[in-house]
Amino acid sequence: MTDADLQGRDRPWRNLYGRRRGKRLKPNQARLLETLLPRLAVRGVSPVDNPDRVPFAPLFPDGRPLWLEVGFGGGEHMVAQAEAHPGVGLIGCEPFVNGVAMALNHIDGAGVENIRLHAGDARDLIELLPEGGLARVFLLYPDPWPKARHVRRRFMSLENLALLARAMAPGAELRVATDIADYADHARAMAAEAPGFARVGRDEAAPWDGWPGTRYEAKALAAGRVPQYMSFERVD
Ligand SMILES: C[S@@+](CC[C@H](N)C(=O)[O-])C[C@H]1O[C@@H](n2cnc3c(N)ncnc32)[C@H](O)[C@@H]1O
Repeated sequence: MTDADLQGRDRPWRNLYGRRRGKRLKPNQARLLETLLPRLAVRGVSPVDNPDRVPFAPLFPDGRPLWLEVGFGGGEHMVAQAEAHPGVGLIGCEPFVNGVAMALNHIDGAGVENIRLHAGDARDLIELLPEGGLARVFLLYPDPWPKARHVRRRFMSLENLALLARAMAPGAELRVATDIADYADHARAMAAEAPGFARVGRDEAAPWDGWPGTRYEAKALAAGRVPQYMSFERVD
């Protein structure tokens, strides 16, 4: 079954905007995609492989806390968190294959064992997670979609917050960083409207403790843009 076949099912399949591929991969990156990715990839996420949306088995055998990073880019933040928190299981989602290849390189170099990957749309994975299974979610520098007609493409949407609300445990934290002031306002408005989230009072000009930064953030800072770091708590 192809993605096109899925369009005719009960629910039209989601559109994923943005790039899936960039520059030609280096030989080492191509090798890691063939060898390491299959070891770390969460199975049965894609609607093509799992059209009936059967939830997947636990990703780590020991019931450890699970953190999710949506759109990890080159994976620098995800790998730094995995190194700093070896007792946590990190799940990273990223559809841009060059980013996945970069992240595999970092994972390989750091030798971390507590990361699982979905090289695709985070929404396909979130809907298969156990209810209340996530202890923390990172959405760091999501694609801003600044044009008014593209605002509905933003990841911070009521639909995606409903997916997250089901998958997050009570008290779990959603961390959102952005360097686009309009996106920050949008994120706060969406979280205020979505059932199950409360804005955490914090200094939103200051990153979280132990913040390793991200690749995109470094570019934003170099260009003189000002990040905002927002936390939302999953509440009943
Ligand atoms: C602006 S980049 C930021 C990357 C990284 N977080 C950083 O700060 O360096 C946004 C990333 O989100 C990814 N993305 C967009 N939509 C996504 C989705 N539905 N699921 C997972 N990742 C997504 C894009 O492919 C892109 O790599």
